[in-house]
Amino acid sequence: MHIRIPKGWELPERLATPEDVFLNRRTFLAGSGSIAAVSALPGAAFAAPQDADPTADLYPAQRNAKYQIQRQLTPESVASRYNNFYEFGSHKKIHEAAQALPIRPWEVAIDGEVEKPFKISIDDLIRKMTLEERLYRHRCVEAWSMTVPWSGFPMKDLVELAKPLAKAKYVRMETFKNPEIARGQRASWYPWPYVEGLTIEEATNELAFMVTGAYGKPMAKQFGAPMRLAVPWKYGFKHIKSIVRFTFTDERPKSFWEIVQGKEYGFWANVNPEVDHPRWSQATERVLGTTIRVPTLKYNGYGDFVAQLYTGMEGERTTWM
Ligand code: MTE
Repeated sequence: MHIRIPKGWELPERLATPEDVFLNRRTFLAGSGSIAAVSALPGAAFAAPQDADPTADLYPAQRNAKYQIQRQLTPESVASRYNNFYEFGSHKKIHEAAQALPIRPWEVAIDGEVEKPFKISIDDLIRKMTLEERLYRHRCVEAWSMTVPWSGFPMKDLVELAKPLAKAKYVRMETFKNPEIARGQRASWYPWPYVEGLTIEEATNELAFMVTGAYGKPMAKQFGAPMRLAVPWKYGFKHIKSIVRFTFTDERPKSFWEIVQGKEYGFWANVNPEVDHPRWSQATERVLGTTIRVPTLKYNGYGDFVAQLYTGMEGERTTWM
């Protein structure tokens, strides 16, 4: 995603559509949309093949109306065919390759600075939680964005289940490693497995969400089944997919992209239109499935929820990377 400079879709500034113009022009599903409305979107008939999922009866989950998007939902047919999942290739058309990933059985390990490390099957984990649906905006560091109805549970509930010790300051998350199936993992210049991390305060912020479903059903593999992270105030690369391990630690984890290109992709990765990526502007974003650009909002518009996490930490680069 970051080794080349994206050009094809970069519209000149004069063609950019201010967000208020865009918002006034559209009929929005924000908050009031139902799954039925989502399904009415063009292309919604698309359904990726999926392994039998013993938790399928839990979807669609009840929508939590607290989280408003102020945008149109991205059609499933668009969001599920334009993905970043480097395990299956360094391009956006990985949806077919990703179907090779076996997602049952799937075990999740909880270890590190916790009362008692344990492993739990994804189905037992999901059944311990109360699933809900949230409409979230997603802003990729590559300057495109989408808006998706995710289903899942607050990460805070997972942290509570893990019972971290006071010593734990961070949660390190790890994706599966299986180069036999995920051909992208044969690229030895990448530091597999994919790793991401959050502070405990970030992980227990109400917005941090463990995603197990999308578009009213169990999540398609290309989105990161059976479980990924959504932290909508941060750039998309923090939203680690297909997680197998949560390690509670007192050391700040080094993430996959930080190891690959530390000057461009740091630990914090909070969305900030005022700080350009070293190779492109972050002022606007292309709305997936359209040809328009809208202004990017600080913390992707979620400042009311998260800005207080970073007060007094400006020297830490929290306002961008
Ligand atoms: N997680 C893993 N394991 N591997 C990846 O390559 N890409 C990240 C993130 N999570 C990635 C990942 C990036 S750069 C983005 S923008 C989002 O996943 C993309 O999510 P999407 O494919 O659902 O749009």
